Amino acid sequence: MALKKPYEKVPGTRIFDAERSRQGYHLNMFCMSLMKAENRERFLADQRAYLDEWPLSEEQKQGVIDLDLNALMDTGGNIYFLAKIGATHGLSFQQMAGSMTGMTEEAYRAMMIAGGRSPEGVRLRDVAPTPEPSPSPTHAKVTASVFTSHVPAVGAAIDHGKTEEPYWKPMFDGYEFSKQWMKENTPDVIFLVYNDHATAFDLSMIPTFTIGTAARFEPADEGYGPRPVPVVEGDPVFASHLAQSLIQEDFDLTICNDMKVDHGLTVPLSLMFGQPQEWPCKIIPFAVNVVQYPVPSGRRCFALGQALRRAIESYDVPLNVQVWGTGGMSHQLQGPRAGLVNRAWDNAWLDKLIADPAGLSQMPHLEYVDEAGSEGIELVMWLIGRGAMSDLDGGPAPKVTHRFYHVPASNTGVGHLILENQ
Ligand code: DHB
Ligand code: FE
Repeated sequence: MALKKPYEKVPGTRIFDAERSRQGYHLNMFCMSLMKAENRERFLADQRAYLDEWPLSEEQKQGVIDLDLNALMDTGGNIYFLAKIGATHGLSFQQMAGSMTGMTEEAYRAMMIAGGRSPEGVRLRDVAPTPEPSPSPTHAKVTASVFTSHVPAVGAAIDHGKTEEPYWKPMFDGYEFSKQWMKENTPDVIFLVYNDHATAFDLSMIPTFTIGTAARFEPADEGYGPRPVPVVEGDPVFASHLAQSLIQEDFDLTICNDMKVDHGLTVPLSLMFGQPQEWPCKIIPFAVNVVQYPVPSGRRCFALGQALRRAIESYDVPLNVQVWGTGGMSHQLQGPRAGLVNRAWDNAWLDKLIADPAGLSQMPHLEYVDEAGSEGIELVMWLIGRGAMSDLDGGPAPKVTHRFYHVPASNTGVGHLILENQ
């Protein structure tokens, strides 16, 4: 079933949602450029020339020149962004709002002084109800979840042709089955849960959960140069659907239309797909803050995974979706305790992830840090992937298609699991 947009029926009103945001992305970004004095000057000197620097439709450019805010809203503009155009022309918000009503400036002002527009006759109750859309016979579904550590040195070993070296071979051997399985079970879309490692987000902004709604995500330069891996192709429409559905289930996601992706996302792709010219499916990046405390609890991640499953299944397109959880297992990258690996704890954690994820989701942060090292906290992200499996929605237990554990890769105990819905 598609998401409902009851707000579309409110008379004389446009709600700025992800669909409109996509349509108006460049228009709204052009508006933002007018927050700099030198850009305002250039714009006022030659509007057409300035507008031609932006990838806008002719309709949008004409709307800006005519200062036709209704037309600009129809092409994806948002009033707070469009207000920068009005401000550049010296208009007040009252003048801008009034310009959209068909009233003269004086009449609008007089109406506001007299108490504002009456809600009588301009509410939902005043328009004919629309019939409920019939449920779609098809929808997306979660077919499998994949879990893996994402050590940067593993990416470097792949990129520099070192996978056959004695240090690396035993670890890469554990992914041979997985690469073959991925060839036979390539999904349409991967919802890839990872953490950003001070790459796309620095300390100026620390979003807890971020969904990538862009069409493409370039590999980041983490200081060694960007990895020589393909650009990640996203799925803006599906990602926006998931964002809307999850936010409506009270998970307050950050929506990101422009970000680079680091080893947390690209190393798992390399492990599962090798070195293709292009990644064989679309990928929706989903970044979780595990860098600065407070980080989300395992319980929250697990509940998010369950909501994610519902969000995926409410999408009308019959996509085959995998949800991946990455990071971990035990590792500590800092201080005198660096190098901590807890093999027994890691394996018990895998057992519980398979058989008792609800119980595991109650594990407090302190246990991750204490038993699996400070960076072992990355494991909470795996609970999102596990929560998305069908057994948590009354289905049968997932099949354990592959399980692997190896020490060491750099500083880390590497864990890897493939679970398939039955
Ligand atoms: C290592 C592991 C990680 O998960 C990471 O993000 C960075 C480094 C490591 O083992 O070296
Ligand atoms: Fe990491």
